Amino acid sequence: MTDDPPEEPKRRWRNKITGGSSEARALGERVLKKNIRSESSRRWIERQINDPYVARARAEGWRARSAFKLIELDDKYHLIKRGMRIVDLGAAPGGWLQVAIKRGAGAVVGIDLLEIEPVTGATVFQMDFLDREAPAALLKALGGKPDLVLSDMAANTTGHARTDQIRTGALAEAAATFAIQHTAPGGAFVTKAFQGGLDATLLAELKRTFSSVRHAKPPSSRKGSPEVFLVALGRK
Ligand SMILES: C[S@@+](CC[C@H](N)C(=O)[O-])C[C@H]1O[C@@H](n2cnc3c(N)ncnc32)[C@H](O)[C@@H]1O
Repeated sequence: MTDDPPEEPKRRWRNKITGGSSEARALGERVLKKNIRSESSRRWIERQINDPYVARARAEGWRARSAFKLIELDDKYHLIKRGMRIVDLGAAPGGWLQVAIKRGAGAVVGIDLLEIEPVTGATVFQMDFLDREAPAALLKALGGKPDLVLSDMAANTTGHARTDQIRTGALAEAAATFAIQHTAPGGAFVTKAFQGGLDATLLAELKRTFSSVRHAKPPSSRKGSPEVFLVALGRK
């Protein structure tokens, strides 16, 4: 989730921490941060209840509503082709893995900090992608260079939108570095990013490495969210 902290608690937080001892201020900060979290959790629950994609995902057997983002991106850019090798970074709970397999991938390997319930046809690692050993483990399990590198990695939210964007941006950059180094010729790379969030040098490197690089906001990506996807096609 990439919610902005709700305005009201944020204002109260600023007012309350201006006076008192440093211990009292620290306590105030902790209490108010908790309020911010519970307020944004309440909004998240509300959205889940009212969200047609959540209901559709349940009805169609997708593990997460995010499955529709990959479906929509694939419908538009024809990313997944029969027999492809695909790496899925930040794969839990497994929605994108399901889509990759359903649409004909030959070998699919996913990685996440969280445990992923087995998905028939995919190999999954519970591991930090930023771990030095991760890239080699993924390539070994895949049995060759990936034709498609997908990343939907998102950092845990702190309640502070800018911090969340920077942390998720760093994950997108790690994914881009992996894609630049390992994608097979003709292959593609998709990553969750935030508008203007990717380092300019890395973006330039992606543009040199792939024939086309563009931003996409699939219809199922929430309108109010700063999330966009970067789609790089035609690895040279
Ligand atoms: C939006 S979810 C992915 C949803 C997935 N695409 C699906 O359809 O089921 C983002 C995931 O990124 C994972 N993540 C965040 N940082 C990570 C890291 N350093 N290494 C691996 N996974 C990470 C989180 O644990 C979380 O499960």
